[in-house]
Amino acid sequence: MQQPLSSRHLPPGEGHTIDLQNLDSILPTLLDLQQRHGDHFKARFSGQDSWLYVLSHPDMARHVLARNYRNYRKGVGIDLVNVLLGRGIMVSEGDLWKRQRKMLQPMFNRDNLHRLTPLMTDCTAQFIKRLQADIANDEPVNITEATGHAALNFILYALFSEDLTRLIDETGSNPFLMVTDESARDLLFARRFRGLSKLILEMIERRKKENRRPFDILSMIMDASEKSTGEPMPQKQQLDETLTLIIAGHETTASALNWTWYLIAQHPEIEQRLLAEARQVLDGRAPSPADIASLTYTRQVLEEAMRLYPPGWLLTRRAIDEDEICGIYTPAGTDIFIPPYLVHRHPEFWENPEQFDPDRFAPEHKARLPQGAYLAFSIGPRNCIGEGMALYEMIIHISMTIQSIHLQLLPDQHIELQALVNLRSRHDLYMQATSKQ
Ligand code: HEM
Repeated sequence: MQQPLSSRHLPPGEGHTIDLQNLDSILPTLLDLQQRHGDHFKARFSGQDSWLYVLSHPDMARHVLARNYRNYRKGVGIDLVNVLLGRGIMVSEGDLWKRQRKMLQPMFNRDNLHRLTPLMTDCTAQFIKRLQADIANDEPVNITEATGHAALNFILYALFSEDLTRLIDETGSNPFLMVTDESARDLLFARRFRGLSKLILEMIERRKKENRRPFDILSMIMDASEKSTGEPMPQKQQLDETLTLIIAGHETTASALNWTWYLIAQHPEIEQRLLAEARQVLDGRAPSPADIASLTYTRQVLEEAMRLYPPGWLLTRRAIDEDEICGIYTPAGTDIFIPPYLVHRHPEFWENPEQFDPDRFAPEHKARLPQGAYLAFSIGPRNCIGEGMALYEMIIHISMTIQSIHLQLLPDQHIELQALVNLRSRHDLYMQATSKQ
C-alpha cells in the first residue's frame, strides 16, 4: 500500500543553519555539509522554522527543475533581484512568466543569432585591440575587467544598436558602464541600476515617434505581442525585460570567460588544441555562423570551464505543495538549493571532478551524461533563454582571441572564489599578454 507522504523519510542533517545575511559563507558551508552528508541534506535558515533541502544528485535536480517544475517557485535570493529586475522573466511566476517566455523565446532563435554574429566578432575585435594596447604599453591585462567589458558591450549593442552609439556620441560616455564599474550588488546598486530606466524609456519613445526599428532586441521587445490575443507587451514589462537581459546577459558570460581564460592559461596543451582548431576552421578570418558548429573543441573547453566554475553556481526554489523528491518527503514551503557547483563535482558522474578535462564533453561522452548532471544553463522550462546566444558569443570570443594573443597568469595572485549571485573571482585576475604574430 502507498505510504502517506508525511511518513516517509527526511534527508540527513540536524542542527545546521545557513546564514543568508552572509552570502559569502554559503558555498564553503555547503561544501562542508556535503562532505559530511553526501548529495542531499537538510538545514534551516537562521531564524526560520521551515526546512532547506540541499540537493546535488542529478535525479533530484531533474525532479525539481524539470519533471515536477510546476510545484516549485523561484526561491531565496530573488528578493534583491526583484528590486533590480521588477517583474522581468527571471523572477516572474505563473501566467505572467509563461506569457513572457513565449514572447521572448523567439528573439533568441537561430536566425537572430546568425544576424548577431557580426556584432559578436566586432566586440571580440575590440577586446583583442584592448589587449594589444596593454601589450604595447607593457602593462598586464586585467582579464576580469576586460572580459566584463566585452560581455557588457555585446549585450548592450545587441539590445540598443544605433541608439547606444548615438547616446555615447551625444553624452560623451556610456551610462550603462556603471553595471561593470560597480561591483557591489546591494540595494544601492539596484536603485542606481533602475535609474537607467529613464534612458531606456526615452529610446523607446524616440523609436515610436520616428517609427524606427533597427535590428536589435529592443525593437523585438517593442513589437512583441501575445499570439492568442495580439496584445502588445505593456511598456513597464518591456522595461523590466530589457533590464533583465542586461543583467542576465552579461554577468554570467563575463564570469564564464574570466574562468575560461584562467583555466586555459594553466593548460598549455589545451591552448595548443584550441589554436589548432581555430587555425584549421578559420585560418585567420572572423567566424561566420556556419563555423560555429565546426569549433567543437572550443565549445568543449567552455562547457568544461562552466562545469568547474558554473556562473550560476546556485539554483534556488521553494516547494508550493508537499512533494516527494526521489523518495524524500518535502513539506510545502520547503526551500530547495540545487548548487550546480556541487552537482558538477558529483563523483558518481564526474571522474576526477577537480581536473580540467574538456574531453568530458566530446560528443560520445556528453551523450552518456544523465539529464541533470550538467546544469550550467539549468534544465527544464525555466532553463537559460540565452544559452545559444552565450555559446555563440563565447565560441567566437575564444576562437578569435586564441589566434592572436597568448595569456599567461601573473604569479602570486590570490585566486579565490566569490560566490554571490554569480561565481566571480574575488580579486581581479591579471595576465601577461603576448602577441602570437
Ligand atoms: C555563460 C552565460 C550564461 C549562463 C551560464 C547562464 C545561466 C543561466 C541559468 C543557470 C539560468 C537559470 C536560473 C534559475 O533557474 O534560477 C538562467 C536563466 C536565464 N538566463 Fe541565462 N545564462 C547565461 C547567459 C545568458 C544570456 C546571454 C542571456 C540573455 C541575453 C540570458 C538570459 C537568461 C534569462 C532571461 C533567464 C531566465 C529564464 C526564465 O526564467 O524563463 N542568460 N541562465
